[in-house]
Amino acid sequence: MRIPIIAGNWKMNKSPDETIELVEAMRAPLTDIVGVEKVICPPFVCLSAAQEAIGDAEIGLGAQNVYFEESGAYTGEIAPGMLEGLVQYVIIGHSERREYFGETDEGVNKKTKVALAHGLTPIVCVGETLALRQSAKTDDWVGRQVVAALEGLTGEQVRTLIIAYEPIWAIGTGVAATAEDAQQVIGGVIRPTVVGLFGDDVAAALRIQYGGSVKPSNATELMSLPDVDGALVGGASLNAADFCEIVRLTAACRG
Ligand code: 13P
Repeated sequence: MRIPIIAGNWKMNKSPDETIELVEAMRAPLTDIVGVEKVICPPFVCLSAAQEAIGDAEIGLGAQNVYFEESGAYTGEIAPGMLEGLVQYVIIGHSERREYFGETDEGVNKKTKVALAHGLTPIVCVGETLALRQSAKTDDWVGRQVVAALEGLTGEQVRTLIIAYEPIWAIGTGVAATAEDAQQVIGGVIRPTVVGLFGDDVAAALRIQYGGSVKPSNATELMSLPDVDGALVGGASLNAADFCEIVRLTAACRG
């Protein structure tokens, strides 16, 4: 059975001190909730502070990006080996990285491979723009992103990773995808694409999150969907009460 996973993508928010404060506010309430994997992804410079504040609580830690080279003259980048022992997860190919930092499907694939090689669990993001959705190209676009991201991986690797379906038009807008749209893309496009590439067993094990304006008021509806295995939460993950409530509601409907 797939254990639901709720991950908070803090994006470019919170200092190390603020990170400690936020983790301390979440630690006890999150520890009390069972049946859901909980992960936070603060900025790179806050990861050590977060690791310390998490202590022995069952809260996973993730990075928001990684570079695909092992070391060298890549000013400003972070190598996968540097994340080992610090985080367990890494977000790869977020739409903001694709849009503002020129990340390509090929780069996403390389990053996914190096993350796995270093024992990190990739959270690979895919999703369409509003223009693509309006021109009925969502299924084709997202299917291609999935094929490109997973190119050259083994089924054993794919069953351990996480895909996050984040329609770009739903990110930070307050307007989440409808349950029907989320289920259609996740259950009707992403999982069947993985079945075609790696077979039923791998596709049944792979966890697929929904992301885009997830909040306590829509969490139950979205997290109850049969093919949705959790959420990648942006804005609401910066508020301890909201994030914990999303995790609690997920446990209540899926745990
Ligand atoms: P919001 O939850 O703020 O819409 O952000 C979603 C997201 O991009 C998570 O990676």
